[in-house]
Amino acid sequence: MMMPQIRAGLFITLEGGEGSGKSTLLSGLARIISAEGISLVQTREPGGTVLAEAVRTLALHPPDGHHWSPIAESLLMNAARASHLEELIRPSLSNGSWVLSDRFSDSTLAYQSIGGVPIDTLRMMEAATLGETRPDITLILDAPPNELVARRQSREQALDAFEARPSSFHLAVRDRFLEIAETDPKRYIVLDALKPAEHVLAQAWAAIATLADEKEKNQ
Ligand SMILES: Nc1ncnc2c1ncn2[C@@H]1O[C@H](COP(=O)(O)OP(=O)(O)O)[C@@H](O)[C@H]1O
Ligand SMILES: [Mg+2]
Repeated sequence: MMMPQIRAGLFITLEGGEGSGKSTLLSGLARIISAEGISLVQTREPGGTVLAEAVRTLALHPPDGHHWSPIAESLLMNAARASHLEELIRPSLSNGSWVLSDRFSDSTLAYQSIGGVPIDTLRMMEAATLGETRPDITLILDAPPNELVARRQSREQALDAFEARPSSFHLAVRDRFLEIAETDPKRYIVLDALKPAEHVLAQAWAAIATLADEKEKNQ
């Protein structure tokens, strides 16, 4: 007798600069997806597992007076990601849950390439870490970084190692994400982060729902 096959869940990632609205969008999407009766795992990078959260602290808040080189940072992010994939993302997707992650591998491509790690090196590490597990859809929240200054300041957490960087850095982050989006226009959806949050949410959900329908038809 054939066992009924559990359909793998959708893997959705949110990307964009600091203050672009990723966490806001994540909670909006989580509300909609859960209301649809879909089992959902919400997570973030770096982080998502005990080991990866420990790496997050080490990477974003290095001991006073010390900082990681770009290559060391890239390896840390990939180490955290390997744990995240092994312990949380892959098991959840195989169970049929959807996974919604606040940042994922595209953040490493964007941030660490700005740090000076060659993109080919980053792509090699990405391939080794991800294997077959690629996001089904990646929503990129896009805006001119100077328009986001007030939003970044409105958040209560202390600035971490990335947020504290100068405006040229935030400009470069925006450009890298847009370049990444061009490599696969089907997977990457660029959203105007300056639109009201409800508008961004509606656009994001429309893209996800379309993809979910397509996937269902192709089963
Ligand atoms: N579309 C939006 N329009 C206006 N303000 C927003 C929008 N999205 C988020 N915000 C506000 O901007 C700030 C940063 O948003 P947040 O979701 O924490 O960004 P991120 O997680 O990308 O750093 C928060 O105060 C949030 O309420
Ligand atoms: Mg956030």
